[in-house]
Amino acid sequence: MKNKNKYILVLLIVFGVLAAGCMGQQTTPVTPTQSAPTDTKPAQTAPVIQANDKSTNDKMTDQDAQKMVTDGREIFRHDTFGDEAYWGDTLKLHQAIAGAANGGVGGGVDPKTALAVGLKVDVDALPPELVNNLKAGKVNLTDPATTIALLQLDAVVGVKGFFDENKNLKSIGITCALCHSTVDDSLTSGIGHRLDGWPNRDLNVGVIVSLAPNLQPVADRLHTNVTTVKAVLNSWGPGKYDAELNMDGKAMQPDGKSAATLLPAAFGLAGVNLHTYGGWGSVTHWNAYVANTQMRGKGVFYDPRLNNKAKYPLAVETGDWNIRNDPDMVTSKLPALQFYQLSLKAPIPPKGSFDETAAANGQAIFNGKANCDRCHVPPVFAEPGWPMHNASEMGIDDFQAKRSPDEMYRTTPLKGLFSHMKGGFYHDGRFATLMDVVNHYDKLFGLGLADNEKNDLIEYMKSI
Ligand code: HEC
Ligand code: HEC
Repeated sequence: MKNKNKYILVLLIVFGVLAAGCMGQQTTPVTPTQSAPTDTKPAQTAPVIQANDKSTNDKMTDQDAQKMVTDGREIFRHDTFGDEAYWGDTLKLHQAIAGAANGGVGGGVDPKTALAVGLKVDVDALPPELVNNLKAGKVNLTDPATTIALLQLDAVVGVKGFFDENKNLKSIGITCALCHSTVDDSLTSGIGHRLDGWPNRDLNVGVIVSLAPNLQPVADRLHTNVTTVKAVLNSWGPGKYDAELNMDGKAMQPDGKSAATLLPAAFGLAGVNLHTYGGWGSVTHWNAYVANTQMRGKGVFYDPRLNNKAKYPLAVETGDWNIRNDPDMVTSKLPALQFYQLSLKAPIPPKGSFDETAAANGQAIFNGKANCDRCHVPPVFAEPGWPMHNASEMGIDDFQAKRSPDEMYRTTPLKGLFSHMKGGFYHDGRFATLMDVVNHYDKLFGLGLADNEKNDLIEYMKSI
């Protein structure tokens, strides 16, 4: 009798699941994990039910999560959100890349030059024959036509070419991967497997943009001339970009240094509340901001904090605090895009890249005498909650902080630090080395660290 009841229960569940299937739900029949009896013997026609099967709901969650990662990766790497209307159609960047010989203007950008300004090539997008020829040094890297061929293969990380029927480059767009991915140099320097989330600290965004034949729209927006725009773009240097310039018009720090910030890591962000050096908002807030206002993709973006004439005159003037494109090519991509970024774990430092004994000592100092874990709380390495600090608390100027709505600096999550040792530390790279960072804290907080303690602390930071 007892067994029979269980049998009926299972049938009811199966029926329920099938009924749900008819309503467009997932049809895989399974029992709830907890309640399924282990001794149930289903009839021949009924599906086999395992006691430890996941519930339909759990399975759907797993499948959705996998799909979000796959979709998000595709968007992160390849989606321009329609921004080719800006980079290609308006600024004509594609013409400078193609060169006069290929229907563009000027000398064109050959692969050697492209690699020299930090652009990366995805080896997995190359056919085997090309890989072999590259290995054998048989590919002409001083001909812009080779760059065009690479764009046709969608092999230039973060740059997407658009071609007409005759395979002429007719426009160009950029993707998130341009600044937030690099490659592992497995084939040669600048050519390898993609490393998403690793900031490309070789990439000279300013120099690349300055190649655009028509910078007048940028000059108009900034109320200046093209010569000044070029000077500003050239002031950024490798590994940097200014994501607020076209909102507040501030190209320089008060001391005359460039206002650009480093390209930050886009991995290890799960569990971190606020993002960007100035803590603008969540990952998805910032994604919408960048896709619309920086990449100039065509979507919808709303942030009333930017509707502030004194602070963000250009956002108010252009209406960029409230962007409405129809069709909207951004918003439907935000869920998977966010999900993918949160799934990007910080890379693990290779063995031998730090001294293990020193790192162990350094860990004790980090969480003890130096009190770094007060803000960089392991394992997230930022504060759970509201990880924001005043400039004065950090012992630095408030220029970049003041450009963000909250006017503070966000505690940088430190995981994977080893992967971006180039370009310096802190938002503008003001500290060239980790020793400079440690010395800054030592002085600021009166830590009284001995030289060996400082070294141990550094080895620990290289190990996380
Ligand atoms: C032209 C270079 C560039 C492109 C393209 C770009 N970003 Fe960024 N990204 C930056 C810079 C610079 C910052 C730091 C901005 C700041 O702190 O003010 C940043 C910050 C971020 C952050 C915050 C990281 C942290 O420390 O918390 C995330 C997340 C991010 N970008 C994701 C994206 C996504 C997703 C895209 C595509 C929609 C994208 N970015 C496109 C340059 C770029
Ligand atoms: C009061 C909170 C606080 C404390 C304490 C603190 N930090 Fe930081 N840390 C921050 C903030 C905020 C930033 C971002 C500063 C910026 O970019 O201008 C930061 C940035 C860093 C960076 C630069 C990361 C990068 O990628 O640019 C390193 C490295 C670092 N901290 C290490 C440490 C160490 C080591 C200690 C202990 C000696 C420590 N921090 C103590 C808040 C703190």
